[in-house]
Amino acid sequence: MIDRPATCRPSAKSTDSPQASRAGPRLNKTIAVIEGDDAAPEAVRPVVELLNSLQLGLNWVYPEVGDVAEAKTGSTFPDAARAVIDAADTTLFGSTSGKSGAALGYLRWGKETFANVRPCRYMPGCASPLRQPEGIDFVIVRENLEDLYVGAEGPLEDLAALNLVGRTIRKPVHELGDGRYAIKAITRAGTERVVRFAFDLAARRDGKRKLTCATKHNMLRATDGLFLDVAREIAADYPEIEFESFIVDDFACRMIREPERFDVVVMPNQYGDILSDAAGGLLGSLGLAASGCFGADYAYFEPAHGTAPDIAGRDIINPTATILSATMMLDYLGLDSAAQRIEDALARVYASGAVLTPDQGGSATTTEFCAALARAL
Ligand code: IPM
Ligand code: MG
Repeated sequence: MIDRPATCRPSAKSTDSPQASRAGPRLNKTIAVIEGDDAAPEAVRPVVELLNSLQLGLNWVYPEVGDVAEAKTGSTFPDAARAVIDAADTTLFGSTSGKSGAALGYLRWGKETFANVRPCRYMPGCASPLRQPEGIDFVIVRENLEDLYVGAEGPLEDLAALNLVGRTIRKPVHELGDGRYAIKAITRAGTERVVRFAFDLAARRDGKRKLTCATKHNMLRATDGLFLDVAREIAADYPEIEFESFIVDDFACRMIREPERFDVVVMPNQYGDILSDAAGGLLGSLGLAASGCFGADYAYFEPAHGTAPDIAGRDIINPTATILSATMMLDYLGLDSAAQRIEDALARVYASGAVLTPDQGGSATTTEFCAALARAL
């Protein structure tokens, strides 16, 4: 049995005793499914089928978004789709290359899912490029709403009225020439809640009981400096969790050289976006990178990878990231023993190595991989 990190919301409670599973469905949770774009649906569909076959009492609803919704309503994210998401207990999201982007925006900013949890745990059999990947088991908690992703960008000349003088370049930024700006916004409240979430996660995991903070506070003194200051303040409330911080570029090097020393790592949005893909690379491919985005009263789950347009329609996308996102979702719904069973079976499929997708050095299709997982279950 593989020890699973507690990646779900700290308040999630188990309701699925083995007896309950034998007794059949009893939960009736509703999951909104947005399959996403390009190759993403090829991973989402068999995962939904697999979960369905376990008879966990899950209802699936499919809000219409993207092209289909646009053709009917003129909008890629009509009110009806929003209502389906709101009424569901959670959402499983494939991945977007644009058309389902408005739905993703709603799931993040509309639902205020501020903590993007991205586990990086090595399973024997994964095609990690590292010589000794054993023992890699950390979780990136990416602040999910702020930072450079508040989406406030524009022409530099718009900043003329502010007459902002750069600290390094020492002249008004609107005089730099023809160019653009982007706003990096870090708030105290936004940082506090994600840092607390990360500490609570570290406290629940049977891990190294450590929280690492990665920021670029030496250059971005006001913004990342605030993030780090807040993290240090909150660390005082968690004396049982070791706290450390690194400048993010140094952290990137350490994450590759000594990934096994990390437990939970919290960071502003953009670094978390970039480094969680890099963490997927440490394991062997983006096809292994799961995620769940948690807010105060909603959470949704999506693989961290993109839509893989280059392999769309070929039935070779690695569904592992979607499977592991789905097991995080089961945890969130209180179905943690079902999640554990699926992860144990997945570990057996990787350990045997007989049926793996091409990104893991195998030649199996997505369908064959999911069939092997179903057999292992
Ligand atoms: C991710 C993706 C998204 C992000 C894109 C699709 C908007 O890269 O979930 O990491 O930047 O957050
Ligand atoms: Mg990303």
